[in-house]
Amino acid sequence: MTRLLLLSGPNLNLLGQREPEIYGTATLEDHVGAAREAATARGWTLDHLQSNHEGELVDAVHAARADVDAIVINPGALTHYGWSLHDALAAFDGVIVELHLSNPNRREPWRHVSVVAPVATGSIVGFGGAGYPLAIAAAIDAAT
Ligand code: DQA
Repeated sequence: MTRLLLLSGPNLNLLGQREPEIYGTATLEDHVGAAREAATARGWTLDHLQSNHEGELVDAVHAARADVDAIVINPGALTHYGWSLHDALAAFDGVIVELHLSNPNRREPWRHVSVVAPVATGSIVGFGGAGYPLAIAAAIDAAT
């Protein structure tokens, strides 16, 4: 069985309550459930970690180097300045999909830079919650 790691960055634990006009009313648990369903339908296992701390996400990427085939990551605001996360992902050999609920390119200028995009296999942005199963499918397709 092949393994996928879904990572969620700062403030995503507040999904459902946080700026619902931008991020929608579904909770992180809802999105993780949809992602897990998409992964298990393809015979993959999915682990999920949400953290508000960059170092914890870096540690999770390091641990993933041992036995994870693909990472799907919504890095939250770390997308725009998380260079240690960038470096950790650069040291991961498998597929990496960058995922955002909103389309950061249509928002404030400081969100137009992603330090994760240059080390990602590809990015899925702007499709709201539908992006979760899309990102899982894209990661599995790219890894197999
Ligand atoms: C986000 C976009 C980021 O700019 C923002 O800081 C987030 C959420 C998204 O999913 O649209 O926390 O990653």
